[in-house]
Amino acid sequence: TGAFTFDPGYKSTASCESALTYIDGNEGVLLHRGYPIGQLAEHSSFMETAYLLLNGELPSGDELDDFTYTITRHTMLHDQLRQFYQGFRRDAHPMAIMCGVVGALSAFYHDSTDISDPEHRKISSHRLIAKMPTIAAWAYKYSIGQPFLQPDNSLSYTGNFLRMTFGVPAEEYEVIPAVEKAMDRIFILHADHEQNASTSTVRLAGSSGANPFACTAAGIACLWGPAHGGANEAALNMLREIGTPDRIPHYIERAKDKNDPFRLMGFGHRVYKNYDPRATVMQKTVREVFDALKVNDPVFETALALEEMALNDDYFREKKLFPNVDFYSGVILSAIGFPTTMFTALFALARTVGWVAQWNEMISDPGQVIGRPRQLYTGPTERDYVPVGNR
Ligand code: CMC
Repeated sequence: TGAFTFDPGYKSTASCESALTYIDGNEGVLLHRGYPIGQLAEHSSFMETAYLLLNGELPSGDELDDFTYTITRHTMLHDQLRQFYQGFRRDAHPMAIMCGVVGALSAFYHDSTDISDPEHRKISSHRLIAKMPTIAAWAYKYSIGQPFLQPDNSLSYTGNFLRMTFGVPAEEYEVIPAVEKAMDRIFILHADHEQNASTSTVRLAGSSGANPFACTAAGIACLWGPAHGGANEAALNMLREIGTPDRIPHYIERAKDKNDPFRLMGFGHRVYKNYDPRATVMQKTVREVFDALKVNDPVFETALALEEMALNDDYFREKKLFPNVDFYSGVILSAIGFPTTMFTALFALARTVGWVAQWNEMISDPGQVIGRPRQLYTGPTERDYVPVGNR
């Protein structure tokens, strides 16, 4: 391999040092700043976890209040941003809208694009975390032709997002506490996941000194793909297509067939060769949401049966393919009322915390250099140009 190590897909290359998130894929362990994801999902809130990821320690009561207040103050969008929405077709995918609108934020905040100043970096990070629920909710409102709702700062981060998504100006919107808690937990579960494809994209884009809004737009673009954040949408579509448990064996056989591109969506992971600890919490949350909303979507039974059948199959056992975070999240989001096209947008909303925390960590490092991988050249050796008439 000449002077370089050849590592397609970076399967064995650490691209950076980071103190944010630890994963032991063989044991199924995920820690944020040392705290197990299960404990954070159970006892923390998304705001608290965001503070932890950004600052390294859990906040005191006052610190949490200050942080929540600061984020709340930045939830509104510049009024001119509405016009960006009008430029999209009504059937635009919310991720397409988010790529555009988040990238456009850089044109509204010239003051905070001096990334060498830690204060500016902090304000940009807070703006991004605060505005993402408004941006995502408006993408949904636009798709269904309902008026945009302004944020209501008397609500929690997550309650506010639910209201902007499902509320209408003509009526009071009542946030259901169990739904708010479940949604907040889903945000915690998606907040960060070390050097996944979209976070690596944000770091690489940021390594050139690009502003954080543009870098986050790059992260959103990368997250969109079905092998990454788009898997939650693909997983629910797959479960609905399977329909009933008696049809599962056919899909398992398809997933095992090397000549068929079909894969079990929501299954397998680059790092986890064990049960994804986020999937465990997600599965439990499905039942809580069903109980609170008094619904029972048969797709959950299909998901449970599919999991059991796959885990008892030699192909999945040998390749160590387990359900990942995306396998059950769609079932919950659908019960709450989100269309599948919004699923990845919600992932982006939550992952913004990880993106900006990792971006800040990178820029704060005095040894930071531009990310610039090399390649193994496989093209022709040097040859002489041939004029068009002689070809
Ligand atoms: N169904 C069937 N076979 C699979 C699956 C699956 N879901 N996932 C991996 N395999 C097989 C794959 O065919 C390969 O077989 P072989 O060694 O015989 O060629 C082997 O397992 C290893 O797969 P890989 O694609 O080389 O592994 P990877 O680490 O490059 O890919 C993955 C990881 C997540 C892209 C992949 O497991 C996948 O496509 N899963 C379905 C999509 C999905 O659920 N993505 C969400 C990931 S978690 C959330 C996130 O990070 O966004």
